[in-house]
Amino acid sequence: MKVAIIGVGNVGRALATALRKAGHEILFGARSPDTQKPEQHSIPDAVRAAEASILAVPFPAAADVIAAAGGFEGKILIDATNPLGMMPEGLGLTMGYTTSGAERIAAQAPEAFVFKAFNQTGWENMQDAAAYAARPVMFVAGDDTARKRVVLTLVADAGFEAVDAGPLRTARLLEPLAMLWIELGRKRGFGSDFAVTLQRKG
Ligand SMILES: NC(=O)c1ccc[n+]([C@@H]2O[C@H](COP(=O)([O-])OP(=O)(O)OC[C@H]3O[C@@H](n4cnc5c(N)ncnc54)[C@H](OP(=O)(O)O)[C@@H]3O)[C@@H](O)[C@H]2O)c1
Repeated sequence: MKVAIIGVGNVGRALATALRKAGHEILFGARSPDTQKPEQHSIPDAVRAAEASILAVPFPAAADVIAAAGGFEGKILIDATNPLGMMPEGLGLTMGYTTSGAERIAAQAPEAFVFKAFNQTGWENMQDAAAYAARPVMFVAGDDTARKRVVLTLVADAGFEAVDAGPLRTARLLEPLAMLWIELGRKRGFGSDFAVTLQRKG
C-alpha cells in the first residue's frame, strides 16, 4: 500500500524502514523535500498520492501541517505524535483526561479517518519491532471499524502485536503510555532496547 509519512525524523524514518520491509511504498512528506531523494515530496503531494498517512511531526506543528497538507478527504490519518511539553517537573503531557492530542488532530482534520498508533514506544523499536522474541504491543484507537482493520494490518506489518484499544478517545490512555516508556527508558535506566508485550492467560 502507498503510505505517506509526514516528517522525516526519527519516527518517520524508523517506520519507513519497517513498512518497506513488509512491502509498502513510502512517500515522505517533508517541509523541505531533499530533491536528491525521489521518495521525498512536499507534504500535500505525499498525502494526495497515498492511501494512508502517518503524522510524525512534533505535536505543536501538527495543526499547521494538517492545514497546509489538505487532501485527507476520506483517507486514513494515523497520529503518531504525543502532546509533550516542558513542565516544572520535566517533560510531560500537555493534555489528558478530557481530551487527547489525537482528538485535537481529528478536529483539525474532520475529513480524515483519524487513528492513534505508533506513539507508545521509542523510535528505536519502530524499525525492527519484530526482532523481539515476543512482539511488542501497539494499541490502536479510532472510530471507523472498517478502516481500523487496515490500520491494524499496517501496525502488524511494522512488527507489532496490533491491538484494537477502542474508539479514538482511548488515545487519552495511549498518550500516557508513551510517557511511561519515556520515564522508564530515559529516566529509569531501561535505555531504548525494551518494549511492552501483552500476555493472555490460557
Ligand atoms: N522520538 C520517539 O521515540 C517518539 C516515539 C513515539 C512518538 N513520537 C512522536 O513522534 C513525533 C516525531 O518525533 P521524532 O522523534 O521523529 O521527531 P524528530 O526526529 O525531531 O523529527 C520531526 C520531523 O518533523 C518535521 N517538522 C518539525 N516541525 C515541522 C513543521 N512545522 N512542518 C513540517 N514538518 C515539521 C521535522 O522536519 P525538519 O527535518 O524540516 O526539521 C522532522 O522531519 C513527535 O510528535 C513525537 O512526540 C516520538
